[in-house]
Amino acid sequence: MKNGSNRCQNILVIHGPNLNLLGIREPSVYGTVTLEEINGNLAKLAEKEGISLDCFQSNAEGELIDRIQQAGAEKIDFIIINPAAYTHTSIALRDALAATRIPFIEIHLSNIFARESFRQKSFFSDMAVGVISGLGAKGYELAFNYVLGRN
Ligand code: DQA
Repeated sequence: MKNGSNRCQNILVIHGPNLNLLGIREPSVYGTVTLEEINGNLAKLAEKEGISLDCFQSNAEGELIDRIQQAGAEKIDFIIINPAAYTHTSIALRDALAATRIPFIEIHLSNIFARESFRQKSFFSDMAVGVISGLGAKGYELAFNYVLGRN
C-alpha cells in the first residue's frame, strides 16, 4: 500500500529457476555475487528507507505463479522480477503478472540481447515498466532505487 506521499511501500523481488545457484553457476556469465548477498543488500536498503521487502526464489513455475497471485492480495506496490529461463518460455508467468496488474521491472544479470537467439525473446518486456539486462547484481540495486523514486 502506498503512503500519503504515494511512495511505493511494499516491494516484492522474485527470482526464477537456478538463481539459487548464483555465485557458483557460470560465474563468467552471471558473476560471483550470491543470491543471499543480493537479497541481503536489498534488505539493508529497504530497512534504511522504511520499505517492506520480500524476496522469493523458486525453481518451480507454479510456485512463482502462486507467489505473484498472492502479491495481488498482499497489496504489493511493485515487483522486481528475474524470471530467468522462464523469461523465454512462460506465458503462464506473464499471465499471472497481467492478472495482478502490479507494475514490474524485468531484470537479468546478463545481457540477454547479446546471447543466444533463444534468449533474445522475452514474454515480459512489453509489459514491464522497464528492463535492466547486463548490469549484473548491480541491476537489482538500480531497480530498487528506481522504485523508491517512483510516484
Ligand atoms: C537470466 C538470463 C536467462 O536467459 C537465463 O536463463 C537465466 C538468467 C539472467 O539473469 O541473465 O537463468 O535471466
